[in-house]
Amino acid sequence: MVEDGRRVLSDVVSSQAAFFSRYGGVVPELAGRNHAAKVLPVVREAMSKAGVTYGDLGGVAATFGPGLTGALLVGLNFAKALAAGLGVPFVGVNHLAAHLQAPLLSDDPPEPPFVGLLVSGGHTALYEVGPDKGAGERRGGLLRFRLLGETLDDAAGEAYDKVGRLLGIHYPAGPALDALAASSEDAPQPFPRPLPERLNFSFSGLKTAAARRVAELVGAGRLEERRAAVAAGFQAAVVETLTEKALAACRETGLHKLVVGGGVAANRGLRELLSRRAAEEGVEARFATLELSMDNAAMVAARGYFLLAAGRTSPPELEAAACLELGVENG
Ligand code: KG4
Ligand code: ZN
Repeated sequence: MVEDGRRVLSDVVSSQAAFFSRYGGVVPELAGRNHAAKVLPVVREAMSKAGVTYGDLGGVAATFGPGLTGALLVGLNFAKALAAGLGVPFVGVNHLAAHLQAPLLSDDPPEPPFVGLLVSGGHTALYEVGPDKGAGERRGGLLRFRLLGETLDDAAGEAYDKVGRLLGIHYPAGPALDALAASSEDAPQPFPRPLPERLNFSFSGLKTAAARRVAELVGAGRLEERRAAVAAGFQAAVVETLTEKALAACRETGLHKLVVGGGVAANRGLRELLSRRAAEEGVEARFATLELSMDNAAMVAARGYFLLAAGRTSPPELEAAACLELGVENG
């Protein structure tokens, strides 16, 4: 439940992470079923926490992609039905745009234009983010995106999950790997710095390097003792790469503001290094809170609010889109 596109009245997250950790990843069929079971109780809880009733709702937004089709369909159809029943507008939101909207859920939101760094489980990309010109007075909150660079292989979050698995950490491994890296007292294990050309990223080499390092340590019977140092070395390679590419994007576009969204934006090593390096280069770096960095509905509601304020509703036929680039809105 979000008011005025900026204020979170309530944000309820029903995570399936613990359920899926035993499977080593998300099982799509089960994810869809879980969504169907949870969606109404979660909406009721969010309304009760916000102290609002159905009559208070001015519109309903739901993610239409990218993501797992079975899970997207549940939210999308629930939102369409709710909006139709209440006689309020419905709008489909691109999940990636919502991640870059999350840092604007603040009393003092950064005004576009800025560089957007999106780092999630499925995506790693840099965008030039500007105000959407078609949005009238509300344009400060309605963003539009131009792709500057993206990963050529794995996403940063995906690399965390794969390297985490090598170190025996359950999916999603990011938070625990982050904590393990911070706990390391030894010199970090050396990892390459993948720097493909221009503003692109590449993380699959880090996964290969980690697999090799872990195999060597297992062979030497020293994995347990060096686990944290492997985590620290891997984390340093990821956060340095993300930081330097993001600052290169600021230099290239001449922008002095940087907004970071997506699950990996919750990484403490990234928050620390990026904030420090940005300050050195005269760039203002903004993150969402930890809760709003990871998947949540508030960021979807916020993006939906600004789309609806600009008169951009979605047709009832809007379909779920498993694969979607940023910049494709409303189907
Ligand atoms: O944005 P998100 O919640 O879901 C997607 O849209 O993908 O991102 C989830 C990803 C997972 O790969 C998870 O391991 C990673 O974000 N992640 C982290 C941290 N917290 C979550 N990666 C590194 N450090 C963290 N603290
Ligand atoms: Zn996400």
